[in-house]
Amino acid sequence: MLANRIKAIPPSPTLTITAKAKAMRAAGEDVLSLAAGEPDFDAPEHVKEAAIKAIKEGFNKYTPVGGIPELKEAIVNFVKREYGLGYDPEEVLVCCGGKQALYNLFQVILNPGDEVIIPAPYWVSYPPIVLLAGGKPVIIETKEEESFKLNPQDLEAHITPWTKALILNSPSNPTGSVYTKEELEAIAHILKGKNIWIVSDDVYHKIILKDEIKWMCIASIDEEIRKRTFIVNALSKTYSLTGWRIGYLIGSKEVIKAATRLQSQSTSNPNSIAQKGAVAALNGPQEFLQTWVDAFKRRANRLMEMLIEIPNLSCFEPQGAFYAFPNISAYFNKTITDSVKMAEYLLEEAKVAVVPGAAFGKEGFIRISFATSLEVIEKACQRLKKALEKLK
Ligand SMILES: Cc1ncc(COP(=O)(O)O)c(C=O)c1O
Repeated sequence: MLANRIKAIPPSPTLTITAKAKAMRAAGEDVLSLAAGEPDFDAPEHVKEAAIKAIKEGFNKYTPVGGIPELKEAIVNFVKREYGLGYDPEEVLVCCGGKQALYNLFQVILNPGDEVIIPAPYWVSYPPIVLLAGGKPVIIETKEEESFKLNPQDLEAHITPWTKALILNSPSNPTGSVYTKEELEAIAHILKGKNIWIVSDDVYHKIILKDEIKWMCIASIDEEIRKRTFIVNALSKTYSLTGWRIGYLIGSKEVIKAATRLQSQSTSNPNSIAQKGAVAALNGPQEFLQTWVDAFKRRANRLMEMLIEIPNLSCFEPQGAFYAFPNISAYFNKTITDSVKMAEYLLEEAKVAVVPGAAFGKEGFIRISFATSLEVIEKACQRLKKALEKLK
């Protein structure tokens, strides 16, 4: 009945957990969620006001497919400020979220059998998006002891004549690791002179948790690398606007033109009202973002303090985004043999929802989101500790 295209996409291993958590909550159980993939802050007031104004002024019609000129300009200016890189508006496509930017990109650059290198743990949607475009995900495992970062030698060993692109995600969902300038240079060095696109997913770039870390996009290394890089970013995580669905793709004019053509036959323009709100977010005050990042820092610190108290559990200290990715494999036993079973156990026993590492292509780990209050983090960690102790 169904097309092969969709049959190739396995059901998400997180679905059962989230469905169960929902059902438990509906039944009145006190379930704490550490599974959120979005900031818990409200959208900024001036952004809401701009959207309300757009509605009141009747900004209701179709807009240009790739976004209104003032939004493209705001994105160009934002990227100039944030990345120190200059782009033309014709190098920008505004999409319905960062996800559609990735989807459009792979649809227009991949031919059947083209390979896309994806370091694991990876964001859940990368492999399905590549598969849906007829590509072949080539997964490179990274190590906890190497801060879950792509090792240049491993990258080199996985490059074949069919390699079309590499995906980099810094700060990373799910590990919170952030590439340094030197690490990006080492990766760029391997890719020099090779006809391989780099896809830089920067949706968490404003959420840096360590003062000593300076975020950088690989596109800033030099002109050759910049020309081969596509920037994917969004307003979703930065401005707490996940539901507004505004993201963007920046890079080669030719590819942007093709991706716009593709978008014209699928969603057309992103929501007109959200585009007006996005202009206000990008051009408006940015100071409040620091208070959000400071809140994430406090939460990350408290979470790490509490996780360290759990014996036999190790956790890479997140440097960006709002996730921690602890190694819980020491608690596996005869019945709890993998991360999905562990997440199910933690939900049943501790009434805490987490996402299994398997969803991100990494067994033995769980993802904990700290996009929630300190109170929930503390209570949930106490419950996790108790539930894990029972497994001894
Ligand atoms: C790494 C990463 N990239 C892209 C996205 C997509 O973001 P958006 O909501 O803008 O589509 C997400 C959302 O969870 C993400 O974690």
